[in-house]
Amino acid sequence: MSLVLIAKNRDFTSLKKALLEKDPNLDVEIWPRVENKERVNFAVCWNHPKHVLNSFANLRAVSSLGAGVNHLLNDEDLAEDVNICRLITGSLKEQMAEYVLNAINNYRLHTITYADQRKEVKWESHSSIPKKHAPVGVLGLGEMGEDVATLLLQQEYIVNSWSRTKKEIDGLTSFAGNEELDDFLGQTNIIVNLLPLTEETEGILDLELFKKLRKPGYLINVGRGSHLVEEDLIYALDTGHLEGACLDVFETEPLPENHPFWNRKNIMITPHIAAITPAKEAADVIIENYKRALSGMELLYEVDRNKGY
Ligand code: NAP
Ligand code: GLV
Repeated sequence: MSLVLIAKNRDFTSLKKALLEKDPNLDVEIWPRVENKERVNFAVCWNHPKHVLNSFANLRAVSSLGAGVNHLLNDEDLAEDVNICRLITGSLKEQMAEYVLNAINNYRLHTITYADQRKEVKWESHSSIPKKHAPVGVLGLGEMGEDVATLLLQQEYIVNSWSRTKKEIDGLTSFAGNEELDDFLGQTNIIVNLLPLTEETEGILDLELFKKLRKPGYLINVGRGSHLVEEDLIYALDTGHLEGACLDVFETEPLPENHPFWNRKNIMITPHIAAITPAKEAADVIIENYKRALSGMELLYEVDRNKGY
């Protein structure tokens, strides 16, 4: 029995070390140098190459190396009886909450504008946007979204959320379902996307949605690049439907050198780093799920294939 780590262009040295420190008896392989594919029962994947999972005939479960699982659910080769799970850790959620709070403060306090002005040796002040004038709307109130909303509420922001089912969190206004989306947007200036990428949510960040936001609107996309219709963002910025955006995820990653987003002062770009799975915490969840998969138990953070997340 063994566990395999699969990713394109990723150094798994620290994860393998963390796994073996926690359980020295584990048999951990790193793709593509897998000694005995028949022995592999569990795979941990991040942007895995097409058809690679086909070669492991005795796979019982596959874990994403992160919170998102769209790369696994899109894999047509993954047999129905292989369970899918994902990695959620305390630090992943904390990093995400800090990233979003920081992005909001950068926008409200004009931090990026001042950094740009410094390059131009320009002395010009801008009024900061008071928290009460900038209600934040969190799309997706799952593992990540809940921590983001909680931190923002602690910081005395006005916070709305949108999810499939209603949430009850002190101080939060929860909207649910497509029928409540417009009301949610109408009460939101700063929109934070933390939805999973599914058939229903792909392309949700489009011009129609931006137009329904309170003005001025600001977008923070930390979900997936394909949630955003990229040309609609450019149009929304050019026509004043949005004042700016902070993007961590992109349709194509790394973001191509000639991509128009690079030339936009009002688009903040980070290279998909909002929340990075830490090796030691990841090892705990992976080992627990590996053991559960071997004994046929329900997995931690198991994915519902029908819901798509
Ligand atoms: P999660 O726990 O699965 O939560 C998903 C949330 O989205 C839930 O609240 C769910 O509603 C809601 N939702 C799903 N489909 C919906 C729909 N059609 N309409 C309305 N609401 C819908 O996901 P998570 O762990 O918070 O992660 C969210 C995403 O963040 C991941 O899938 C990943 O793409 C992204 N992410 C990015 C980074 C990064 O570094 N940029 C790091 C981690 C995660 P219910 O609660 O009602 O089910
Ligand atoms: C990162 O994007 C993740 O899904 O954890």
